[in-house]
Amino acid sequence: MAKSVTLNVGDDSYDFPVLSGSTGPDVVDIRKFYAETGMFTYDPGFTSTGSCESAITYIDGDQGMLLHRGYPIDDLAENCNFEEVAYLLLNGELPNQADKDKFENDITYHTMVHEQIHNFYSGFRRDAHPMAIMCGVVGALSAFYHDSLDITNPDHRRISSYRLIAKMPTIAAWAYKYSLGQPFIYPRNDLGYAENFLHMMYATPCEDYEVNPILAKAMDRILILHADHEQNASTSTVRLAGSSGANPFACIAAGIASLWGPAHGGANEAVLNMLNEIGDPSRVDEYVRKAKDKNDPFRLMGFGHRVYKNYDPRATILSQTCKEVLEELGIKNNPLLDIAIALEKIALEDEYFIEKKLYPNVDFYSGIIFQAMGIPVTMFTALFALARTTGWIAQWNEMVEDPQQKIGRPRQLFTGETKRDYVALHKR
Ligand code: CMC
Repeated sequence: MAKSVTLNVGDDSYDFPVLSGSTGPDVVDIRKFYAETGMFTYDPGFTSTGSCESAITYIDGDQGMLLHRGYPIDDLAENCNFEEVAYLLLNGELPNQADKDKFENDITYHTMVHEQIHNFYSGFRRDAHPMAIMCGVVGALSAFYHDSLDITNPDHRRISSYRLIAKMPTIAAWAYKYSLGQPFIYPRNDLGYAENFLHMMYATPCEDYEVNPILAKAMDRILILHADHEQNASTSTVRLAGSSGANPFACIAAGIASLWGPAHGGANEAVLNMLNEIGDPSRVDEYVRKAKDKNDPFRLMGFGHRVYKNYDPRATILSQTCKEVLEELGIKNNPLLDIAIALEKIALEDEYFIEKKLYPNVDFYSGIIFQAMGIPVTMFTALFALARTTGWIAQWNEMVEDPQQKIGRPRQLFTGETKRDYVALHKR
């Protein structure tokens, strides 16, 4: 029997259908709510609201489980490269060998950006935050690739998706090069995705640069772990921007802006700043106290998550990757890692964190790995953006193809002044 919920308001009663997905909580379909009741629903922060139907990524926050198209993130991180995961997110299935080769080739041959894009960089100050550069340059791509802007054309959507995934490492690495005052390094078609990014970050025209395969593997894994995370703030921003029919480059620029904040992708940068501020494992207690103090705005960065009320599975994989990277680089005593381990231990045993189910999230370890690789702190969130572009564009495609898609237009609970008479300036 079809399920429904009944809402009683005074003497009136209204029925709303309940929809079931393939897994996860049922949802109450309130699309006719306003038409039938004359009321809106109220849910700032969307804590109880599903904004779309999606078949890409599923998170079970209580179990700490993350599935992309049904495949657990641990399996993907262990067995796939980033390009395979990107293909999976975009197409719904893992590629066979021929599909994989073709996809990698297609992505590789879109990694160069239009030569005039160089000029955008020189408009920025040398100390510009890389995320500011990313917002600007990615938005500007819409002005360069007019041949793929018709969002009703599946071929245009595919080429735009490839362009975005392919060019993001080039754009991010160049933001770094620009801050150093070094020449931009062009992508190399004989290198894989993660390897190519590291090469563009660290090579110079003066000497050859060999990418360490262990670091390339670690970077590839980090990219996989950040590739998608269902309807988070930046993905919802991409969908909302795209719901008006805006072009994909503009939508991804909007996603980058949303990711920048410290409550979202900016947390990896904030974690490292926090570990530096703590400075020594002996001061961890003091900071845990601050985090618990309701009168202190301080929060433990890299802890807590809207959906995970258990270990973030990505943090579990990254804590292992972190050890591997430090070992490969011969870093035996990393003071920041010591502080991070002490912090993790104390927080996990503390009643406040246990009761509120606050566990380390993906950003807790990624910063330490990035720093060990020599990536500057301001680039951390840019790296997150480069990985998440795959998820954003997969979700954008899904939205555009959805026959039920409508422009996103939330309503409000208005608490301002109601209509009043204008008061002339001399009478105010
Ligand atoms: N340190 C101390 N207390 C915390 C923390 C924290 N990191 N996170 C949540 N709390 C407390 C919060 O004060 C609140 O307490 P109370 O119920 O007494 O008011 C309770 O836990 C619930 O927090 P919330 O802010 O209502 O939860 P939320 O779902 O709105 O926020 C969050 C989720 C991730 C924004 C938050 O946990 C946070 O600010 N964490 C630190 C920033 C961070 O690491 N962000 C990265 C998220 S994962 C990657 C990504 O999404 O980009």
